[in-house]
Amino acid sequence: MSIKNYKQALKSPVFEIVQASAHELGVDSYVIGGFVRDYLLKRGMPKDIDIVAVGSGIALAKRVASKLKGNPHVSVFKNFGTAMIKHGDLELEFVGARKESYDRSSRKPVVEDGTLEDDQKRRDFTINALALSLQEKNFGNLLDPFDGLGDLERKLIRTPLDPDITYSDDPLRMMRAIRFATQLRFTIQIRSLQSITANKERINIVSKERIVDELHKILASQKPSIGFSLLHKTGLLSNILPELTALEGIEEIEGQRHKDNFWHTLEVVDNISGKTDDIWLRWAALLHDIGKAPTKKFHKKIGWTFHGHEFVGSKMVYKLFKRLRMPLNDKMRFVQKMVLMSSRPIVLSEDYVTDSAVRRLVYDAGDYVDDLMTLCEADITTKNPKKQRKYKNNFKKVRQKIIEVEERDHIRNFQPPISGEEIMRTFDLRPSKEIGVIKDAIKEAILEGEIPNEYDAAKEYMLKKGIELGLSIAAG
Ligand code: CTP
Repeated sequence: MSIKNYKQALKSPVFEIVQASAHELGVDSYVIGGFVRDYLLKRGMPKDIDIVAVGSGIALAKRVASKLKGNPHVSVFKNFGTAMIKHGDLELEFVGARKESYDRSSRKPVVEDGTLEDDQKRRDFTINALALSLQEKNFGNLLDPFDGLGDLERKLIRTPLDPDITYSDDPLRMMRAIRFATQLRFTIQIRSLQSITANKERINIVSKERIVDELHKILASQKPSIGFSLLHKTGLLSNILPELTALEGIEEIEGQRHKDNFWHTLEVVDNISGKTDDIWLRWAALLHDIGKAPTKKFHKKIGWTFHGHEFVGSKMVYKLFKRLRMPLNDKMRFVQKMVLMSSRPIVLSEDYVTDSAVRRLVYDAGDYVDDLMTLCEADITTKNPKKQRKYKNNFKKVRQKIIEVEERDHIRNFQPPISGEEIMRTFDLRPSKEIGVIKDAIKEAILEGEIPNEYDAAKEYMLKKGIELGLSIAAG
């Protein structure tokens, strides 16, 4: 077989520096992993560069840093035998070639020095085990003992070793297989899929942070449903996100059926991914119906209901984020808010839309009203073209109304034009319940459209309301 050469991938002067450093240290070095894969897939010139040294990766990193302009800092991870250098927009990761397997009970890696091929064998997939030589004599030659190049052409995810061994070494790789299949639109080899299915429980020994990282990457792909259906098919999903798999299935009682909310959810996620790259809005789409499983009921007269599923769902978001050690910050609150409000615009889109209903929506959603509309539009998954058109049109009208109401009334992030202090001063009040009552009444009057969102009108309304409550106006 002819040896392929990809010198042109190694144009960056940094590779020459690595070559010279390795030569001085008397070790061989190679570029491996994502850089080579993404270069061959023409996914642009990758910024993360993994370099493997047949010898000490840390020593090589130090030598390289001493030759680079500005002598960048070397971050050493002694326990892993790796070192990292940031150089401009490049991130160089160095590792010594090793034979590695994990002690199954403790997850502590048992590491020994090895050859390049030993190192390639212990990598996750054949497409990630491709290496380019940095030796002067064969600079740019491809070393591909497992036909990773063929797998790139076949669009196949395959492990270099028996998949049971590769996945057992690091069970996160089961999710990585699915993530790469989603990002690259590759197929996972059947034998590999079977192994993932058989080993699915082992995902539980992986840290939540690493799992979430893969979920983020699947969700950030063009068509996340590819990944979620594979996670579901292999059984991983019920270990990671049981709230989602609980939505699967269609029940029928007395001839009444409800839709399968799991597959519906995946469609919504794909729809929204065509409209936004905001990962948290995509999370909101993924979780918008999770309250439907615990709230599902059948009533003889009205059929299936999911009363309060939005509220229950938003509470579940907190538990889910906590369990997965995701941030319990404003990102989570955003997802909760989207889930909580996910049915609001639908009501508006059904019949005649009043201004006050739109004002309330804008008031409650605040800055997120556009995101909420995007979510609701993505939620339209009916296969009936007539209905599809009708719903889309209705949402268009709601969007238009939002703009009109916004221009006129400035409701978004609105603070009632009269402050609590002014109410206290006007009626010579100490902090008391009446202040809240009057403030609320002013807000309601504005949202209902009884008075415009303006100071003079609000002041007049305040005086009227105070007198109704039996308050007297302060002297002076
Ligand atoms: N690797 C592995 N097993 C893992 C993680 C990584 O064998 N669980 C190996 C693969 O050879 C991979 C390389 O380490 O190509 C670098 O890992 P990483 O930077 O996580 O992935 P990339 O392949 O570079 O891809 P991406 O940046 O998209 O995650």
